[in-house]
Amino acid sequence: MKIAVIQGPNLNMLGMRERHIYGPMTLDQIHAQLEASASQNGIELEFFQSNLEGEIIDRIQECMGTVNGILINPAAYTHTSIAIADALKAVALPTVEVHISNIYHREEFRQKSITASASTGVITGFGPFGYHLGLIALTQIISEIHGAQAAANAQTSEEVSAEPTAQE
Ligand code: DQA
Repeated sequence: MKIAVIQGPNLNMLGMRERHIYGPMTLDQIHAQLEASASQNGIELEFFQSNLEGEIIDRIQECMGTVNGILINPAAYTHTSIAIADALKAVALPTVEVHISNIYHREEFRQKSITASASTGVITGFGPFGYHLGLIALTQIISEIHGAQAAANAQTSEEVSAEPTAQE
């Protein structure tokens, strides 16, 4: 199973940036922890961070057919970007949106997520641990989808083999 981890603007500043809100961990440290737990479970992660909306959209588009799901913190674009929401809807992959802080406990302009409309679910307010929770949720969703697809394929092949042949 392959998952893209996409980090939006200013998340490269974690560890230095508003530590009273986002805590002391750097993005590299968060990614290293995530990588450690993912690899134990046979999950491959592809990390990406950008401060540019267009680059994030390009990365989301590249996910089509190359990964099984997306773990994304769109950061400030959460509250503004119809284009990122559209990209997520276009690729239509299982997607979990993560926020380190509790966006519903902050300024009014942060309390609305435009991108959440394109996500399977949102995890907000658990600090960097939210990425782990997001990864657990995402792998569960992807496994359920694979299970349902396998069952549907088995059903189809049963139906095909039950169909009478021309000689019968
Ligand atoms: C954030 C919350 C956003 O409002 C903010 O712009 C960020 C980080 C979070 O992870 O809590 O950059 O997405």
